[in-house]
Order: sequence, then C-alpha cells, then structure tokens
Amino acid sequence: MLEKIKETAAYIASKFEHIPDTAIILGTGLGELVGHIEDKRELPYGEIPHFPLSTVEGHSGKLILGRLGEKPILAMQGRFHYYEGYTMQQVTFPVRVLRQLGVKTLFVSNAAGGMNPQFKVGDLMIITDHINTFPDNPLRGKNYEELGPRFPDMSDAYSPRLIDKALAIAARNNIEVRQGVYVGTQGPTFETPAEYRYFRIIGGDAVGMSTVPEVIVAHHGGMEVFAISVITDLGGFGDIVKCSHEEVQKAAAEAQPRMTLIMQQLIAEN
Ligand code: HPA
Repeated sequence: MLEKIKETAAYIASKFEHIPDTAIILGTGLGELVGHIEDKRELPYGEIPHFPLSTVEGHSGKLILGRLGEKPILAMQGRFHYYEGYTMQQVTFPVRVLRQLGVKTLFVSNAAGGMNPQFKVGDLMIITDHINTFPDNPLRGKNYEELGPRFPDMSDAYSPRLIDKALAIAARNNIEVRQGVYVGTQGPTFETPAEYRYFRIIGGDAVGMSTVPEVIVAHHGGMEVFAISVITDLGGFGDIVKCSHEEVQKAAAEAQPRMTLIMQQLIAEN
C-alpha cells in the first residue's frame, strides 16, 4: 500500500507542480463549487495510477487543481463509496494520497438523512462527531507508523477551530446551520423506519453512506477536517420524508448555494 500511495502521489505531483495544502472532497451539495474554481487544471481519475473509478450517478471522477478566491486548492470531484463494492482501503486511498502530497486540511460534504426531529429537508448540518457503523474500519490491518498511529485518538476528528469559524460565517451571512453527529452506514439501502429510530437512539442526528472512512484516514494522517451534510430526507421519531436518489439530488441542489458560500468563505479565511 505504501508503494502505491507514493507512486500515485508522484504521478499527481508530476502533473501539477505546486500542490496546495487544502483539499476538498466535493460530495453532494458542493458540485457547484467547481464553477468557482479559477485557473483549473484537471486530471481524470481514469488517468491516475491505482485510483478507483467512481460508478454512481451524479459523481463524475476527476481531480481538479485551481484557486478558490486567493487560495490554491485541490478538489476531488467524485468519491468512492463502500456500497459500490470497494474495500475501505480503496475508498480512502485518495485521502492517503492527498496526505502524501502534503495536504494539511480537508473539507468534505455529503447528503444525509435527518433523524433529529428538529431538522427539515434542506438544512445544513456541520458535523461535530461521527459514529462508524460500517462493517469495517479503513485502519484495520497492518499499521504503517509513517501514515499515522496504531490507535488514533478520535476526540477531535472534526476540527473545533474550523467548526467555530464556519458557525461565525453562517451567522454573518444569516444562514441557519445545524450541528450534529453523523452516523456512517454502508448502504446502499436507505434506512427502514426502525433503523432510523435506532440511529437516533444511539446518538445520531443524521445518517449517510460516506465521509466516515475518509475522515478516519485523514485524521489518522494528522489532517485537520471540516465536514458538512445537507439533509435530504427525514426519518426517526419526528416527521418522515421518504427519499429516493432523485429526491436526494433535488434537496441537495436547493441547499447548494448556502453550502457553497460557507465552504468558500471558510476556505478563504483558513
Ligand atoms: N440514509 C443514508 N444515506 C443517505 C440518506 C439517508 O437517509 N439520505 C442521503 N443519503
């Protein structure tokens, strides 16, 4: 694995001479951010050695180098989900590569189902913590000390500093944001009513099928992480709003301008 990480990083470094210290995984809700990236240079995932290829509708795969405002950034358009059949190591491989390239801060977005009865469809939720219910952990197996510690502390995986900044940005722009615990689950089924209630009872505010693996690996590697969810459907003990892939995309599109604004300013100020 170490060899592959180094080979892939070397390939990317040979294509993009200056690698920024900030990266974004453009999950659901942030697709539009691409339009704000200037001086773009793109590398399709298919050309990158050892990179998996994304298979799900609405996620095209490429790495984008450019500037967001004044900030040089590296953006991943398209991510890899466990439900697609990849191993946890494959899902998180790009994050290992980003770290090898010298990236220090990682921004992530996703779509999630809300279980907190106060949430509404279209809400933004800053992730303050997570619960990993995937059947695996990307750090299972041999640990390479040069990638990070065997038993990583997870008490501040979601940077309190970046959360505070994002809250200030949201307040300044009159954007309502929620904060909460994201439950990561394997999918691809959405939750049954009993599963939504279960995830609420164990302490979750929202549930989704991504992010947890990437954040574990980013934090393991010492990166500072900020993650935000757009609530696209509701389950649990409050209102129930069913979801389909199309409805998830629709709610995410509606929330996109708010999410984009917060991310843009957060990255600019970081
Ligand atoms: N569950 C899991 N993943 C999701 C959901 C959900 O309700 N909504 C969007 N992604």
